[in-house]
Amino acid sequence: MNFTGANILSVEQFHRDSIEQIFEVADRMLPYARRQKRTRVLDGAILGNLFFEPSTRTRVSFGTAFNLLGGEVRETTGMESSALAKGESLYDTARVLSSYSDVIAMRHPKSGSVAEFAQGSRVPVINGGDGANEHPTQALLDLYTIKKELAYHGHSVDGMHICMMGDLKFGRTVHSLSRLLALYDNIRFTLISPRELMMPDSVLAVIEKAGHEVTVTDQVSGSSDADIVYQTRIQQERFTSPAEADQYRGKFRLNSEIYTRHYKPNTVIMHPLPRDSRAEANELDNDLNQHPNLAIFRQADNGVLIRMALFALTLGVADQVEKYECEVNWYSDKRNV
Ligand code: NCD
Repeated sequence: MNFTGANILSVEQFHRDSIEQIFEVADRMLPYARRQKRTRVLDGAILGNLFFEPSTRTRVSFGTAFNLLGGEVRETTGMESSALAKGESLYDTARVLSSYSDVIAMRHPKSGSVAEFAQGSRVPVINGGDGANEHPTQALLDLYTIKKELAYHGHSVDGMHICMMGDLKFGRTVHSLSRLLALYDNIRFTLISPRELMMPDSVLAVIEKAGHEVTVTDQVSGSSDADIVYQTRIQQERFTSPAEADQYRGKFRLNSEIYTRHYKPNTVIMHPLPRDSRAEANELDNDLNQHPNLAIFRQADNGVLIRMALFALTLGVADQVEKYECEVNWYSDKRNV
């Protein structure tokens, strides 16, 4: 796939080859993310980082990724503080802000909004999450993490068993990840959720059509040979009221006791974060924090590599990153783990 100038809006754009292309560039980003070296390949470039919905990790990692390539970041957060609150169309916002930037990363609460915005943009637009629809960069970093974690145990993505749990209806990360995994061979999906929060039919159709084995259930048992357990948060912001979300909070928890009882010793534990650590939710307990199979912080670290790769590719500099390398002058040993 020729990424230069492309928007990254949906995982539907990718094939296995293009995913591998992204992962190869992401691998090359590690020394820069660890501050062993610097690169100024995007010196002078500007990222418009537009987050119209709450975010910490995704927003900061897009910004950090751009800074690590030597570029500058201009940021807008929240709907209320933007002209969208005055009734401005996404098209107008896109026309204007894309004149101020070389690439735009955007998150918005409405499904399809980032694609609509991209129609008015003069520069590549990367989807940082559009409502309950898609979160392609998260899916890429999740798949990158899965690949690395499974390789550590001598396994590959093809033939693996993934168990997704929690709010599969509104969780955009599981929608995008399932669609990406559908491109691989013989995946077993166990989809555990309250009946009301099941994976949407549109996503099920994609994975079933690709010939994968899917079990939809509201029971945690039966996943004892899962390679990955991917836990999610109840997406309270997508419910009509907090009281409605309360009905489902805390229904499917993962803690040390449940993990040991239901999963095999090598099952990798993932979560896109943030985890809801309030007592009534606590879907992924702190008592697993020191567990070697807990990959959640490795996922977050990998997010920077994937976003660096996407910027390098969409701005057409992936083959020049090393050419613009320079020294790191400050103390940075603690990153070299
Ligand atoms: C996720 C999101 O925003 O969809 N967070 C993230 O980007 N890592 C998941 C969530 O908010 O629960």
